[in-house]
Amino acid sequence: MPDNKAPSDWPLHDLIAARWSPRAFEDRAVEHKKLMSLLEAMRWAPSCFNEQPWRLLVATKDDPTEYERMLGCLVEFNQGWAKAAPVLMIAVASLEFERNGKPNAHGWHDVGLGLENMALQATSMGLQIHMMAGFDTAKARAVYGIPDNAAPTTAIAIGYPGDANDLSADLRDKETAPRERRELESIVFSGRWGKTSSLLKGD
Ligand SMILES: Cc1cc2nc3c(=O)[nH]c(=O)nc-3n(C[C@H](O)[C@H](O)[C@H](O)COP(=O)(O)O)c2cc1C
Repeated sequence: MPDNKAPSDWPLHDLIAARWSPRAFEDRAVEHKKLMSLLEAMRWAPSCFNEQPWRLLVATKDDPTEYERMLGCLVEFNQGWAKAAPVLMIAVASLEFERNGKPNAHGWHDVGLGLENMALQATSMGLQIHMMAGFDTAKARAVYGIPDNAAPTTAIAIGYPGDANDLSADLRDKETAPRERRELESIVFSGRWGKTSSLLKGD
């Protein structure tokens, strides 16, 4: 399995460091049991009022017609590499609390928590997931009959990471580029917006 661990400044749990978003995938199905663990991991994420606003549409290569339908919802760039992944999903956020019908402003947030749970579970089993904003949400709504009180948030490609040499030259460069993040100094504030926290200055 390709290793693309985060070059973190501070110690991290192995699972967090080893999670990444590949575009090359092995031509290998995801075992049913592992797929169920991914779904279960999402199920156990925290959510506002325990509303569990995550909903998932799933397609695997076991059903080529359904797989092609979902692949067709992705933008062309993402279709180009995601077609190698044996499993695709579209994550949807329910936008109303079931308990009172009021708007759930945290629906998108909580779907993100569910998907990160899924990503870490995937990493623990040798799989990786690659989330995508690049899909046609209107098309997904029409294809799957997603109602107005729910929002397609993210498409996801899942599989065993593959060989970067199978990618086109530009994607191969991205796949093998050093992983980067903003410095903590530029994102962690104390006292007022924009003022780097003294935690980061070590005083
Ligand atoms: C909500 C979201 C949308 C993304 N959309 C795309 C996408 O449409 N296409 C793509 O190739 N990568 C997409 N990515 C992957 C990001 O580019 C990737 O997570 C980021 O570069 C950090 O890399 P890492 O996940 O390997 O740490 C998306 C990631 C997230 C979380």
